[in-house]
Amino acid sequence: MIKAGVIGHPIAHSKSPLIHGYWLKKFGIDGEYMAYDVPPDNLVAGVNRLVQAGLRGFNVTLPHKQTIMDLCSDISEDAQKIGAVNTVVIDDHGQLHGRNTDAFGFIQNLDETIPDFDWSNRETVVIGAGGAARAVLYALSIKGVQDITLTNRTQESANFLASGYGAKVTAWDQRQKAIQGSDLIINTTSLGMKGQPPLEIDLSGITDQAVVYDIVYAPLYTPLLCAARDQGAQFVTGIGMLLHQARPAFAAWFSQYPEVTPELEKLVL
Ligand code: ATR
Repeated sequence: MIKAGVIGHPIAHSKSPLIHGYWLKKFGIDGEYMAYDVPPDNLVAGVNRLVQAGLRGFNVTLPHKQTIMDLCSDISEDAQKIGAVNTVVIDDHGQLHGRNTDAFGFIQNLDETIPDFDWSNRETVVIGAGGAARAVLYALSIKGVQDITLTNRTQESANFLASGYGAKVTAWDQRQKAIQGSDLIINTTSLGMKGQPPLEIDLSGITDQAVVYDIVYAPLYTPLLCAARDQGAQFVTGIGMLLHQARPAFAAWFSQYPEVTPELEKLVL
């Protein structure tokens, strides 16, 4: 039996067992994917147990996405650039290989939602400067998007992140100005998530070709996306990023390349 899983703390909320379990069943693979609660002070022992148990690898979620890097024998370029590992492959010698599939998930989700989407010459605004924003900026750099403005409540984080990508920074209280004339707006903050305040921004200044992308997926239609829809703009929901980022990991462990289907999306939502 091929085994994989996800580590985090807390871990009960993770959707990953549902996603990988769906694909295992679909391919008829003799495999398992389990959630492992690993507290921060127990990371080394927790990971060693998984290696001993013969896992092919595991996903990594909060709070281990950075600290796991110290335990990896090598780290892929995407994970280095993003500064976090979300996927680990364990080789036959028990060595850990760290990767990050979040940028892939971000790109695939947009490309599948809007198949004729043209990434070039986009005037882009990224809202937020946390872990998700790091993956988004790396994804935008891969796609050659050059005109990027970053805005974040804590400006130092925006300055730091922007400097690595030649992006501009607009102060948080000026974010309304930043989106005037922009045609790709991406929310990477937790604002708009169930239980969180909405992201307060007026989309009336965006262009006709604008695409509004929210990485929040609970609710699926955030207040930001509802505003985009009401205005007739194209929009991208966040669930696809979660589902697509899981595909390369599944392929690395179980040797089958899975697809995101409407049935899977429904299951996870
Ligand atoms: P993630 O890894 O999901 O990106 P994170 O690293 O904690 O999570 O980042 C959360 C993002 O949401 C940050 O940009 C954060 O802004 P700060 O850097 O100022 O903390 C943003 N965020 C969270 N709550 C917010 C709020 N109430 N108002 C504005 N921004 C908020």
